Amino acid sequence: MRRTLADIAREIYGEDSEYIVKSFDVIGDIAIIKIPEKILDDRRYKFGEEIVRNFRYINVVLRQETPVEGIYRIRGLEYLAGEKRTETIYKEHGARFYVDVSRVYFTPRLSYERGRIASLIREGEKVLNMFAGAGPFTIHIARRGGFVYSVDINPYAIEYHYINNILNKVEDRVILYRDDASRVVEEKLVERVDRVVMPLPELALDYLKYAVKAIKEEGVVHVYLHIQYNTGEEEALKKAEEIVEKRISEYNVNIKDVSSRVVREVAVRTAQVCVDVTLHKSINYI
Ligand SMILES: C[S@@+](CC[C@H](N)C(=O)[O-])C[C@H]1O[C@@H](n2cnc3c(N)ncnc32)[C@H](O)[C@@H]1O
Repeated sequence: MRRTLADIAREIYGEDSEYIVKSFDVIGDIAIIKIPEKILDDRRYKFGEEIVRNFRYINVVLRQETPVEGIYRIRGLEYLAGEKRTETIYKEHGARFYVDVSRVYFTPRLSYERGRIASLIREGEKVLNMFAGAGPFTIHIARRGGFVYSVDINPYAIEYHYINNILNKVEDRVILYRDDASRVVEEKLVERVDRVVMPLPELALDYLKYAVKAIKEEGVVHVYLHIQYNTGEEEALKKAEEIVEKRISEYNVNIKDVSSRVVREVAVRTAQVCVDVTLHKSINYI
């Protein structure tokens, strides 16, 4: 009978297994596990080997050494077991993504959200993705008939994004920029798009003015934020909408519609929220 991760943890760590996180991220055939500092010893290699042996679809086990960090939003990873590589192919909603998890940000946890945004796209819509990574939002949007200006500051992200465009046959519907998103807007995209996606909570508020600049007379901006709350998700949604509305009101644009949803929990009482804002530029827009 196949063992669960909890079974394997018990076999290898005994009583210490209570400290083991009983789930892992799977990207393609790579499992990324976390092991708390207090039980970080040589047993982790055996743990990795047992994971490879037990889960047929896992060929590589890596340990997350650091949280996602730096401007490229990459996590430090240690090799534990299986094939010695960090590249894989991840499948989502009928698309394929070739990624190096040690060089480019990638998470399977945004899968539903990427599908949601793609489902909003109308044929021929022009979209700006300000923080594209290896291209998952962009490629789903392009597969739905959108035309995407896709930006990332990490050269590796753009390299994999380029390959992914070809893998998914959308290279004629995507223009790639390896640059800072603010500069791309200022130099190339003022009033050029119908929709902007901003999947980087750490920069979203500071870059909101560039998103607004890129929108034609009217359009939609999807702003991702991390919001702390005390009472529950309703509070997080209300807070997120207020923050975005306040910031947008500084640019003299009319807000026609605002809605929001919790994308996922990212820490204790901290939610990632997406605020969808439809805006119309008034004649006083600055
Ligand atoms: C959270 S990741 C993007 C996730 C991606 N959309 C996905 O679904 O996998 C944020 C990305 O923004 C990029 N980035 C950070 N600062 C940037 C900037 N100023 N301009 C453009 N891209 C930036 C990082 O390199 C990183 O790839």
